[in-house]
Amino acid sequence: MQHIIDELAKRREQARMGGGEKRIATQHAKGKLTARERISLLLDEGSFEEFDMFVEHRAHDFGMADQKIPGDGVVTGWGTVEGRQVYVFSKDFTVFGGSLSGAHAAKITKVQRMAAKVGAPIIGLFDAGGARIQEGVESLAGYADIFMENVLASGVIPQISVIMGPCAGGDVYSPAMTDFIFMVRDTSYMYVTGPDVVKTVTNETVTHEDLGGARVHAQKSGVADGAFDNDVEALLQVRRLIAFLPSSNRQTAPERESFDHPHRDEPSLDSLVPSNPNTPYDMRELILKIVDEADFFEISADFARNIITGFARIDGATVGVVANQPQVLAGVLDIDASRKAARFVRFCDAFSIPLLTLVDVPGFMPGTKQEYGGLIKHGAKLLFAYAEATVPKVTLITRKAYGGAYDVMSSKHLRGDVNYAWPTAEIAVMGAKGAVEIIFRADAKDPEKLAEREAEYKARFANPFVAASLGYIDDVIMPHGTRRRIVRAFESLKTKQLTNPWKKHDNIPL
Ligand code: HXC
Repeated sequence: MQHIIDELAKRREQARMGGGEKRIATQHAKGKLTARERISLLLDEGSFEEFDMFVEHRAHDFGMADQKIPGDGVVTGWGTVEGRQVYVFSKDFTVFGGSLSGAHAAKITKVQRMAAKVGAPIIGLFDAGGARIQEGVESLAGYADIFMENVLASGVIPQISVIMGPCAGGDVYSPAMTDFIFMVRDTSYMYVTGPDVVKTVTNETVTHEDLGGARVHAQKSGVADGAFDNDVEALLQVRRLIAFLPSSNRQTAPERESFDHPHRDEPSLDSLVPSNPNTPYDMRELILKIVDEADFFEISADFARNIITGFARIDGATVGVVANQPQVLAGVLDIDASRKAARFVRFCDAFSIPLLTLVDVPGFMPGTKQEYGGLIKHGAKLLFAYAEATVPKVTLITRKAYGGAYDVMSSKHLRGDVNYAWPTAEIAVMGAKGAVEIIFRADAKDPEKLAEREAEYKARFANPFVAASLGYIDDVIMPHGTRRRIVRAFESLKTKQLTNPWKKHDNIPL
């Protein structure tokens, strides 16, 4: 018996060594952890249950029959994060560059299916050279199998991808269909085709980093939802994110005891909004002052910074926060902001996470760049997302809510449940100056008269009371009491029930 047990121990040890000491050393020299080291940081200590550690590829061509490494370039299984079950797969770059064979793909789809069945999040750690070049179509089929499971699991379980090395070709589309993508700065990059192909096809010369590094995707393309300095930081932040999320669409997010008094007054909020309507202020300050213990997990912090999205807790329960940021482009809604917020709102709605919307928006961004880029369709995404969302929706207008953007930002008209405004709110078709220039065009040459008209328009519309008199705003609240009012609003909505009409699925303006 002992020799059989010794044989198992030997085989396990061999599998754990992946591509061997030399390749592990190379991995470390690049500032990257190994697939297994990453899993042990991501999961609670000792919680990892590995599957398929003895799986090998089935290829024969190009001498592959003699090159078999148990595990075949990906480590899969499940474990816990703060005691809650998650499934994981972690690409092992030390084994055939983490490339995807048919057997490797089958290991991933096995955990994808298990995660969907039991209702637990799945986290993929990527560090790989794409399709296993020696396998050809079997590898392509494997990718498609993974994509298929991504689509079926979308909206059922949270799917998170962390890019921790190369991620190219077939490897990029699975992360693209997951809910969140995080990247590690300087060691990771993502692109459909690499610099060599780019040079051949478009004659552009570009580096890996400039084509698909963490900065590019977290700031410019919006493909990544966050970038972290190293493997350890990225994995710890994923643990933090998981704690905000429900395990599946069949459950609600875990509640955490709050040590922050639900009725805490915040006197400093009475002076947050500057008296000049064109002076910016930091909307993040409002978020941090009203949520539990100032704990806010921001999503896509560096992309479309004119809108803020992220998770926080209100009296122990997770909420999704969407907030215009007057500090960047005056908080205007443009293509990128609309796309970013729409996707976030849909994630929250799919997973029953209530929405808190903080509004200070001067409207949609004008200009040919935006119109040619399809602002109409992209803006409509956010409108659509808010309108279809059935989760509790609490909205607070702090200052501007102009034009179509007023409608879009979780207004009463899109089934906002509780809509509050601060006394500083200005709810109107547009700012007073622009408004009088249009409706009193005849007075254009008379600056004195125009100023008089502007003051008149301001007095009439630059306040929350017209909207409140129509019932579009449920109450005008004191800024210092905002946390208490928001806590109570969400409390009152705990038993909310609302369903949309039956349909196969909607046709959101993609
Ligand atoms: C098989 C691969 C591999 C691959 C890397 N390796 N990529 N083996 N298939 N796709 C192996 C190498 O042979 C090497 O083996 C080890 O992994 C490490 O690779 P290096 O090149 O030494 O590493 P590095 O210099 O860090 O470069 C990493 C890299 C490069 C940039 C990812 O390896 C690379 O360009 N690989 C090919 C990428 C690619 O074109 N993939 C196909 C994409 S097309 P040894 O034994 O020496 O350690 C695709 C289509 C799918 O994915 C579409 C589906 C929809």
